[in-house]
Amino acid sequence: MDSNDVSADLAHVLYTKDQIQDKIAEMAAAIDKDYEGRDILVVGVLKGAVMVMADLSRALHSHVTMDWMAVSSYGSGTTSSGVVRILKDLDTDLMGKHVLIVEDIIDSGLTLSWLKSNLESRGPASVEICTLLRKPEAAKVEIDVKYVGFDCPNEFVVGYGLDFAEKYRNLDFIGTLAPHVYN
Ligand code: XMP
Ligand code: MG
Repeated sequence: MDSNDVSADLAHVLYTKDQIQDKIAEMAAAIDKDYEGRDILVVGVLKGAVMVMADLSRALHSHVTMDWMAVSSYGSGTTSSGVVRILKDLDTDLMGKHVLIVEDIIDSGLTLSWLKSNLESRGPASVEICTLLRKPEAAKVEIDVKYVGFDCPNEFVVGYGLDFAEKYRNLDFIGTLAPHVYN
């Protein structure tokens, strides 16, 4: 390993590349079954959901169109406040569409709960949520998440779209950061 190898910054691997891909295949099969005969508009939440969107949409057999939103939740970096601002809105009219929001991780659930009601107000046929990871805090909010990959430990995780100071998004696995990185 050379001194610039990113894996030196990680403490533990939580989910390997294979585990992630198997889980995504499993979620895609469940989604195809539930949406049988219907087109799906998958909405990825930038930037974290990029990897999940790319792999999940390729694993789906349903007719899919893709769109993206970028939101920022005001708060102190690692915690979100529930006050959300749209940085990039959808290009698509949601009227009559079956919308599936795709997320990397739900922590407090405040961002997604805001996003779901925002999209529901635009006249879609349905809005459901698919997230690869869910932290324990998410259990406290009244938000119906139909597809969950892994219930993960309450630690800061990076990789597969998830970042720390914009780094580590490109990893094909998910892990926890070594203390020397954030200390
Ligand atoms: P909520 O509103 O559910 O916000 O609290 C979820 C958003 O918070 C970010 N987040 C993380 N990002 N590792 C990350 O890289 C984490 O462990 C983590 N926990 C929360 C993320 O942007 C997510 O969309
Ligand atoms: Mg995110």
